Amino acid sequence: MSLRLEKVVVTYGRDAARTTVLDGVDLEFTPGTLTALTGPSGSGKSTLLAVAGALLRPDSGSVLLDGEDIAPLGDAARARVRRERIGYMFQSGNLLPGLTVLDQVLTIAHVNGRRPARYRDRAAEVLETVGLGHRLGHRPEQLSGGERQRTALARALLLEPSVLLIDEPTAAADRSQAADLAALLADCAERQGCTAAVATHDPAVTAAAGRVVDMAP
Ligand SMILES: Nc1ncnc2c1ncn2[C@@H]1O[C@H](COP(=O)(O)OP(=O)(O)OP(=O)(O)O)[C@@H](O)[C@H]1O
Ligand SMILES: [Mg+2]
Repeated sequence: MSLRLEKVVVTYGRDAARTTVLDGVDLEFTPGTLTALTGPSGSGKSTLLAVAGALLRPDSGSVLLDGEDIAPLGDAARARVRRERIGYMFQSGNLLPGLTVLDQVLTIAHVNGRRPARYRDRAAEVLETVGLGHRLGHRPEQLSGGERQRTALARALLLEPSVLLIDEPTAAADRSQAADLAALLADCAERQGCTAAVATHDPAVTAAAGRVVDMAP
């Protein structure tokens, strides 16, 4: 699925506190390629992912998913686009307290109106791929930071979304995990042909990416 941002402007705050974070961004993401977004803290990487993923409506500009502009859609229509086509992994991980690793991953099936029970095997398989096969029954509070992030990544991958948006996946990973995760993301993009973008400061991720976009102002 092609994803293109055209002349995207995002500002936060108002009056004296108003800041323009994205100032007319033109960017195309290609299916089958992992694109890394780099740039200093505050340069707008997470904001760009939020706009690309229909979480945040830009002040102006277009966000074209397979040619359809999702920027002007109402909340319900954008929620549907997110559910059906986009996999996210947020910078914070966003796990639900009290749920096991396996159930965290299965929530995404539930949210999409599918029967979680039918996805148990696939969920266990994806968790194995991200190196969490031995942690299926753990709860978030029993996981390390890197394990929490990999749980969130497995959840994003469960339904093989057309668009995969990932924010700082290796922030809590060690060197060798970071290299493995980066290879896994690049491989997902290439094998599934999904359009994948990752915000990162990590050279291991930029090295694995098919393309690197520097957001430095
Ligand atoms: N909800 C908000 N209200 C006001 N300002 C915001 C908001 N969200 C982000 N910003 C500001 O917008 C700028 C870009 O933030 P963003 O999170 O996109 O940066 P980033 O490149 O992802 O940074 P990092 O590498 O630290 O994750 C920052 O200066 C931030 O303070
Ligand atoms: Mg960020």
